[in-house]
Amino acid sequence: MSDYMPGFGNHVSTEAVPGALPIGRNSPQRPAFGLYAEQLSGTAFTAPRHENRRSWLYRMRPTAEHPPYRRYEGAPRLAPGTTDAPLAPNRLRWDPAPMPEAPTDLIDGMTTMLANRDPADLEGVALHVYAANRDMTGRVFTDADGELLFIPQQGRLTLYTELGRVEVSPGQIALVPRGVRFRADLPDGSASGYVAENHGSLFRLPDLGPIGANGLANPRDFETPVAWFEDRDDATEVVQKFMGTLWTTTLDHSPLDVVAWHGNLAPWRYDLARFNTINTVSFDHPDPSIFTLLTSPSDVPGRANADFVIFPPRWMVAEGTFRPPWFHRNVMSEAMGLITGAYDAKAEGFAPGGVSLHNLMAGHGPDLASWQGASAAELKPHKIEGTMAFMLESCWPYKPTAHALDHAQLDYDAVWSDFPKARLPR
Ligand SMILES: [Fe+2]
Repeated sequence: MSDYMPGFGNHVSTEAVPGALPIGRNSPQRPAFGLYAEQLSGTAFTAPRHENRRSWLYRMRPTAEHPPYRRYEGAPRLAPGTTDAPLAPNRLRWDPAPMPEAPTDLIDGMTTMLANRDPADLEGVALHVYAANRDMTGRVFTDADGELLFIPQQGRLTLYTELGRVEVSPGQIALVPRGVRFRADLPDGSASGYVAENHGSLFRLPDLGPIGANGLANPRDFETPVAWFEDRDDATEVVQKFMGTLWTTTLDHSPLDVVAWHGNLAPWRYDLARFNTINTVSFDHPDPSIFTLLTSPSDVPGRANADFVIFPPRWMVAEGTFRPPWFHRNVMSEAMGLITGAYDAKAEGFAPGGVSLHNLMAGHGPDLASWQGASAAELKPHKIEGTMAFMLESCWPYKPTAHALDHAQLDYDAVWSDFPKARLPR
């Protein structure tokens, strides 16, 4: 599958059938072939031009044609709401979720681990993990609560979306905009990974400041699919997440029937290996914000609703510097996952597919073994290889779900025990 167009949020036009896309008018009285013109808005109509994101879809039936939704009783671990109990200020960590034994598709294989804010606030993020071993057949999923950032850890996903097909492998990420319906096939038979659900302002590329015009994630490396559709008059279930609850209805056709579209709101994928990593070449360890791939701003300048940050392979050359992540406490709250390899602040216990949470003002940093090793290391150029971790950092403290609290590692605090006391001069 090589049917992609480059760019992030740029205006593109694509048609799967020649002549389907009107030229010069968005919504002609009579679209070609009897198609229906439908606008999908990702920002308010009146958003500033440089932030305005919308696409026009030309489809075989309008989305408006559907029976009433009713509660969906499957996926008991997706969007259950977070626990109401007071949240202890403890650091938390989780082992990877096991692959289900029963046939389970992506919808039923998703587990919400962490969330903050109510989706109705149009702020906040949630972190889900997924483990699935069956294609989604005869049904699609859509999330009215936010855009979905897929972060595969094992196995590929083929996302058949209303706006085209996106195949995403471990080491890549893919985004499905809010409200876009899709189904997921598992070309490798099973798949697991993470989903970051963003209720707030759309993910964008961060400003680069003194870095200049190039660097970090470059827009041309994002790949948007060309138009693709299926013409299927078979019963198709639509499972929708809306205001934190799952709903279902059944159509008599596939809604993946968008024959052509144009606009700047669309799915994309991105290969994390294309991230141009910036770091120090003299001394001191910069803040992890240098690794920001995507940001969702809040209303407070510089304080992100969500930053998606990666820790890729890179050279370490700083002199006189403790090179792993330092000890710190942060007003921002940090959820992390590991795609492959090991994370340089932890010797063990944080496995690929696992999750960690260091909420607002939680003291954290390297574990004892990592601190001892880095403190004694000879500082010469060293390349960290074979690793890829990510952080979903948010200004809103995370709350774990009840499932997450029940499955947290019991001994995480122990990684910071037994540090030797500093020796002051007498
Ligand atoms: Fe941290």
